[in-house]
Amino acid sequence: MPTTATQATQSNPAPTADPNWWRQASVYQIYPRSFADSNGDGIGDINGITAKVPYLKNLGIDAVWLSPFYPSALADGGYDVDDYRNVDPLLGTLEDFDAMANALHAAGLKLIVDIVPNHSSDRHQLFREALASPRGSAARNRYIFRDGLGEEGELPPSDWDSVFGGPAWERITEPDGSPGQWYMHIFAKEQPDFNWDNPEVREDFLKTLRFWSDRGVDGFRIDVAHALTKNLEETLPTKADLEAQGEALYLTGQHPYWDRDEVHEIYAEWRRVFNEYNPPRTAVAEAWVHTDRRARYASPEGLGQAFNFDLLQADFDAAQFRKTIIKNLAEAKASGASSTWVFSNHDVVRHATRYGLPASEPSAGGDIMAGQAGKRWLLAGGRQEDVDAELGLRRARAASLLMFALPGSAYLYQGEELGLQEVGNEIPDSARQDPAFFRNKGVEIGRDGCRVPLPWTSAGSSFGFGPGGSHLPQPEWFAGSSVEAQEGQGDSTLSLYRRALALRSQLQTTEALELLETGRDDVLAFRRPNGWTSITNFGTEPFELPAGQLLVSSSPLEAGRLPGAATAWLR
Ligand code: NOJ
Repeated sequence: MPTTATQATQSNPAPTADPNWWRQASVYQIYPRSFADSNGDGIGDINGITAKVPYLKNLGIDAVWLSPFYPSALADGGYDVDDYRNVDPLLGTLEDFDAMANALHAAGLKLIVDIVPNHSSDRHQLFREALASPRGSAARNRYIFRDGLGEEGELPPSDWDSVFGGPAWERITEPDGSPGQWYMHIFAKEQPDFNWDNPEVREDFLKTLRFWSDRGVDGFRIDVAHALTKNLEETLPTKADLEAQGEALYLTGQHPYWDRDEVHEIYAEWRRVFNEYNPPRTAVAEAWVHTDRRARYASPEGLGQAFNFDLLQADFDAAQFRKTIIKNLAEAKASGASSTWVFSNHDVVRHATRYGLPASEPSAGGDIMAGQAGKRWLLAGGRQEDVDAELGLRRARAASLLMFALPGSAYLYQGEELGLQEVGNEIPDSARQDPAFFRNKGVEIGRDGCRVPLPWTSAGSSFGFGPGGSHLPQPEWFAGSSVEAQEGQGDSTLSLYRRALALRSQLQTTEALELLETGRDDVLAFRRPNGWTSITNFGTEPFELPAGQLLVSSSPLEAGRLPGAATAWLR
């Protein structure tokens, strides 16, 4: 272990050295700029998080995952990083970070941070050097620069699209003022892709992983883990060439920039770094890959765990849930990882809203930014009146309670414990921040609706988010969803989450699960090794519960029966 590791681990001691703490953890995602604002500048900050550690502890989670808090111009909500080894001055200092880590650890909570290795921001020192250096220089070679096509190099090197819309290439002006080369950006143009064939890039990220591990960070969430390595030969295939190969191309490991086989060499190297620490640092891959290729990311010789977005993309439907659960548990077992479950995060329409939208067609899968119904809702401009919020929340509570009964890690997104709905077109265009909105203007409204600062109180400045307003406007109806409004209310979503998370810790003795026959296609039931059963009624007809003591239910039972869109745990 590096010397600094020993020093820093002492200053931010992890509470236990259990190397398996992550396997069945409940992990709470914080989007720092929208969680809690301590200094009244309208932007959530690190001290705001520290002040809420008692709330997090009381919620009953095991770990916190912080979305990027690094210096950033916010071209993509912080996923455009200017400096990987620092804190954005608007959010605090490294000392504030240490204080937060200490407070979390003292409360027995682990800390996971986001690493964004596919691209930096265009303000990163290395990218500035690349722009200031000539064609073919070592500095350019840290990113992906190409000459353009056409007589004057005026056309991009390929016709590929960026994920946020528009071309995946941007032309630069050379230091002498002439029109120059093009650089690749799979996401916004402010997010130039690194060249992972370059050993200097690899070394720099090892340094970053050690920097945060030395400060006592327990694990990492790896942003677009499947995009790092690329095959950019002289002649790049066109979009049509790629499309002609169909879905099958994604299974070959030979797509020019998604999910290439050799990306795992990088993670094998990272694993060796993680294992220098005690307990080993953990990692979870954000990899929107074909389900059959996910296990590679979750391998114990690689990152160790990978997000499974299958439930998130499924409709509220017993058959889809059953199939997804069986498949993912089998996969996790085969890879040696534990499964992961997630319904909401900072990229998708909140599940309390998704489940309140009209039913979608059978899912085509693979959509990157939202579940199918949520995607259509975004396309339509996200009108609140399209949503059956009551039904959505009822289903979301049922789905979350089901998730808490599953073996593996449950990833929660800030605000879902309040049953928060997505904020739709109540955010005026002038207040929007998401590049997906600007690059696709008129087509998608983007992801700001799940990133609106949390309501802590029912009244007062920005509903208790902070003393100085909120960087995204909060709708009036946030008052009724606030933490204050839900405290002490036995039937509130906050109370349900607290009760369920407290009970969940008793379920996690082994990772086994036995599916039970219910006699109904729309009712899904399973038993855990401690004898507890979880039963979810996806239909509308009440379900006669078997004998047993009720531990918790997402909606009140009706004459002893489980109503539609509800989950109950029995002992
Ligand atoms: C995935 C992140 O979750 C998303 O918010 C971001 O826009 C892209 N990666 C690019 O970093």
